[in-house]
Amino acid sequence: MMTNTSLITQSPLEILLVEDDEDDYHIIKNILSQVEETTFHLDWVSDYDEATHRIQTHGYAIFLFDYRLGNHTGLDLVKYVRTIQCSTPCILLTGQDDHHVDVRAGESGAEDYLVKGELLASGLERSIRYALERHKAEKEREDLMDQLLETSRQLGRAEVAVNVLHNVGNVLNSINVSATQITTLLKNSYTNDIGRIASMIRAHQQDLGHFFTQDTKGQLIPSYLSELDKQVAKQHQTMLEEIQALTKNLDHLKHIVQAQQANTVGTNQKEPVILSELMEQALTINFGTLPQHQVSIVRDFADAPPIMSDKHQILQILVNLIRNAKHSMMAKPGISHCLSLTIDGTRTPNRVLLIVQDTGVGIKPQLLTKIFTQGFSTKQEGQGLGLHSSALAAQSLQGSLQAFSVGEGQGARFTLDLPYTPVEALIS
Ligand SMILES: Nc1ncnc2c1ncn2[C@@H]1O[C@H](COP(=O)(O)OP(=O)(O)O)[C@@H](O)[C@H]1O
Ligand SMILES: [Mg+2]
Repeated sequence: MMTNTSLITQSPLEILLVEDDEDDYHIIKNILSQVEETTFHLDWVSDYDEATHRIQTHGYAIFLFDYRLGNHTGLDLVKYVRTIQCSTPCILLTGQDDHHVDVRAGESGAEDYLVKGELLASGLERSIRYALERHKAEKEREDLMDQLLETSRQLGRAEVAVNVLHNVGNVLNSINVSATQITTLLKNSYTNDIGRIASMIRAHQQDLGHFFTQDTKGQLIPSYLSELDKQVAKQHQTMLEEIQALTKNLDHLKHIVQAQQANTVGTNQKEPVILSELMEQALTINFGTLPQHQVSIVRDFADAPPIMSDKHQILQILVNLIRNAKHSMMAKPGISHCLSLTIDGTRTPNRVLLIVQDTGVGIKPQLLTKIFTQGFSTKQEGQGLGLHSSALAAQSLQGSLQAFSVGEGQGARFTLDLPYTPVEALIS
């Protein structure tokens, strides 16, 4: 008996009885007092309105509702309890056995249906105990469900976070390269030469005419200065380009992180997008701003209409595709490589295709779909996140990402297929 009664932990157990017949209240109170295993505290109210008030304001372990309650029925109360999201078990009591009421009691969420005339202490105690047991099990199931949901939410967040880190990592590398490039340019700046010339001129302040016309060093100064001018302008241009790349990449980073904060794959903020600019930025992120010697880059952006789309998601995909192409070509050294980038808005109606094709190691036919699964990588240091996160990003842009390769050693082609959404705003 210990195990059975242990479920009734609250002592005394708070019960609300809603019963319009005072005699029946005394009978039930009497029956409950005969239960040896548990002590009960019985609150009694006789009408529906008082009952709803008590249900809301008191914390009962169980409700006993009489079926007949003037204008209402006990079933109305059961429904009321469930409507206010109260999960306390309800037991319906009735004067006579009625199968129809019994069925409806079950349907409306009552735990049990008891006939008052047949009630015994043991029967009522068992009914209450079973109701509490079911209630407890139900509660545990709900808690477990909540925990599961929370865990899967956390896992989802973790997945997004890992993808964000991967994409942030891709861009950070390029930012680092730009910063180093700018530092090197500043270190080797021609401004030191200007200082040297200035002190030479100062030293000949008294005989400048003679210095510029007769002195071998002085004679060189004007032509040296115009050469210096050209070099400084060139240096400035390079620095400006690096800083522009750096600023654009920082902006891209900001958006990747913002998308993570919104806890989505991307925020899908649509804006006019010049796809060729994104291709160039993705190229710069992977190869830097300096011309490439190992790889020739072929661009075909002739049929590239501007579209309305999420710039940062497209960029993130292109960065991954070009990065993989670069790795694949580097893994096949000793031959001249070619990276072909194509944007084509004419091939398929209402679609724009962005194609990244390389002359690298290629992909075995049996791996062409597998490469998109999270964590799949054939590289020693690979994380297998690039294509997975890119495919998800493509999906959220109502697009798709596909891989083609004739086979191992034959190069690979990736096609990002995006909806063509024209930019009316740009035309006006
Ligand atoms: N351009 C490509 N050429 C050949 N194989 C590729 C290419 N792009 C992707 N792959 C294959 O797909 C795998 C998964 O790519 P990805 O998801 O970017 O992860 P990772 O680059 O970390 O390996 C790579 O390890 C490689 O085997
Ligand atoms: Mg990759």
